[in-house]
Order: sequence, then structure tokens, then C-alpha cells
Amino acid sequence: MGFPQTRMRRLRASASLRGLVRETDLRAGALVLPLFVCEAAAIHGAEREPIATMPGIDRLSLAAAVAEAREAAALGVAGVMLFGVPAEKDASGSGAWDEDGIVQLATRAIKQAVPDLLVLTDVCLCEYTDHGHCGVLRTDGAGAPTVDNDASLELLARTAVSLARAGADIVAPSDMMDGRVGAVREELDGEGFSETPILAYSAKFSSAFYGPFREAAGSAPAFGDRRGYQMDPANGREAVREALLDVQEGADMVMVKPALAYGDLIHAVKQATGLPVAAYNVSGEYAMVKAAAAAGYIDERSAVLEILTSLRRAGADTIVTYHAKDAAQWLAHQT
Ligand code: PBG
Repeated sequence: MGFPQTRMRRLRASASLRGLVRETDLRAGALVLPLFVCEAAAIHGAEREPIATMPGIDRLSLAAAVAEAREAAALGVAGVMLFGVPAEKDASGSGAWDEDGIVQLATRAIKQAVPDLLVLTDVCLCEYTDHGHCGVLRTDGAGAPTVDNDASLELLARTAVSLARAGADIVAPSDMMDGRVGAVREELDGEGFSETPILAYSAKFSSAFYGPFREAAGSAPAFGDRRGYQMDPANGREAVREALLDVQEGADMVMVKPALAYGDLIHAVKQATGLPVAAYNVSGEYAMVKAAAAAGYIDERSAVLEILTSLRRAGADTIVTYHAKDAAQWLAHQT
């Protein structure tokens, strides 16, 4: 039946009717807030250091990270995702698996202060290597160095175990080496952490939208780029294949990253895997919204809630977003 018997506007006539038939919900309990935890020397002894391209997000001392975690928990946010900014870096990124590394310390401190808040830890070497790549380098002959996939696996697995030992609720490998989910699972199981879930950054694209993060974490590659290991933004079928491989290797959850330009893949990965899917609403996506809102070009609150709702609609169960605290607050006071 068509018009005039059918009138789509009937169910849009009031807030209650719209609420009755709303297909997608957004809850603070589906949100994860990323935090940049810094060794004192990396932020000149300060408690917080603003990140110029990400208004509202700071580089944090250990104590400030605990305070942020408390605030997030009080707002009902599900968890925090920790990124470390060490004072010193080396060729192999050994700070990543240091038992007293900044993320290990922050994990212990947050779990002690706010036990119910989930602590997710990024597993990657790029914040800890002096060359800024996500794995260790190998130089063959006279050519430029390349990132050595297989040699990196052991270091990533070691990093995941040290984070699990510190109390991480979920470890999240983001390096895009082949086979890393399997390597991490095997090492975790062997070390007594068979209950620790893996959230795999399965479809992680080589993206312009990571710019502000790299400034915040000081993790821009010193030479070349990440296109040799992160995915080509043009490839959707390959993203599904990456996710299915990670499922085979033992991933408990899979991620699509960035989020806004990749809604089709959030949907496709959800359909193909049936696993819980996370979307990472990355730093550049946050920066665009904040800049446009500051200029008065868009209304921040409605734009953010629309964006986060669209990610849920695409199929994301979990959303990692720098807007998490704001969104949780807005959701609690919705009209
Ligand atoms: C580490 C990592 C990055 C991000 C998350 N984990 C940076 C990168 O791959 O260059 C980006 C997150 C963001 O932009 O918010 N490999």
C-alpha cells in the first residue's frame, strides 16, 4: 500500500512515538574513552598537558589518568583504553613490555581505584620505538628498512602478557602484523591468562584521520609511512577477510578503525563474523567535530550523538571515542 493510505509521518508525530519505534539505542555502557598516560618527563612533570588538535583531551600524568578514569566511571562509561607515552624510546620498543611501564602502572592504579571500570590496553610498539613504526625493523641489503612481521610477533605477545599481568581486562593489538592475534592468544594462554579477551584491531586502515593521535602520543613514523602494514582505505573485501582471520586466530571482539568513513565495513564485519564489533571514532574525526563546533558551524551535542548513533546503527556494539564523557553526560540528561 502506498500513499495516501501509508503515511510515514504518523509515527514521527511526537517524541514518545519516535521513542517507541527507535531502532537503535546509544548507551554510556557501550562507550570506551581513550586516555594518553604519560611518564612524568614526557609532560615536563605536569599533571596535564593539553593536546592542541584535540580540545578537551589532555596528555595525563598517572594521577590525572586515575582521576579521568573515576570521572568516566561515574558517568557510566564502560571503560578506558590506555595509550602510553614513555620518556624514552629504543629500537625494539622495550618500554611496551616493561613491568613498570607507564601503561602497566596506570592499569594497576586504575583497577585499584575504580575496579568496575574496564581497562582496555592498546598493544603496539609505535609509541615505544625510536623510529615510530609498529614493529621492529629489518634492513635487507642497501634498501630502506622494513617492518619485520615475524620478529615483531614475539614482542607484541610479550607486551600483551605484561598488560594482562598488570590487570588489563581486555588487550587490543593494533599493530597490524600478520598472525599477531594467534601469537598473543598463545602467549596469554601459556602464561595463565586464558581468561583475558582479545579485541583485535582487525580492519585498521592507513588513515589521514590518525594525525592528532600521533601528535598526542609522539608516535609518527620517523621515515616512510604505515601503508606496508595498515590497510588500503579502498579495500572492503579485504577488511572482512582480515576480521575472519582474526576470528580464526582467537579474537573475542573485532574492530573497524577509523569509524566515520567506514560504516559499510562495520556492517560487513558484523555480518561476516557475528562477533561483538567495536568501532574506533579516531582522533581526526574528533578534531573535525571540535573544530567545526568551535567555529560555530555545527552544534556539537547533536552532531556527536548523531555520529555515535550512526555507528551503532552500522553494527558497532562498542564505540571507542574521545567524546565518551560528553556523550555520557548528554545521554543522562536527554530531553
Ligand atoms: C597505534 C595506534 C594508533 C591509533 C590507535 N592505536 C596510531 C596509528 O596507527 O598511527 C590511532 C587512534 C586515533 O587516531 O585516535 N598503532
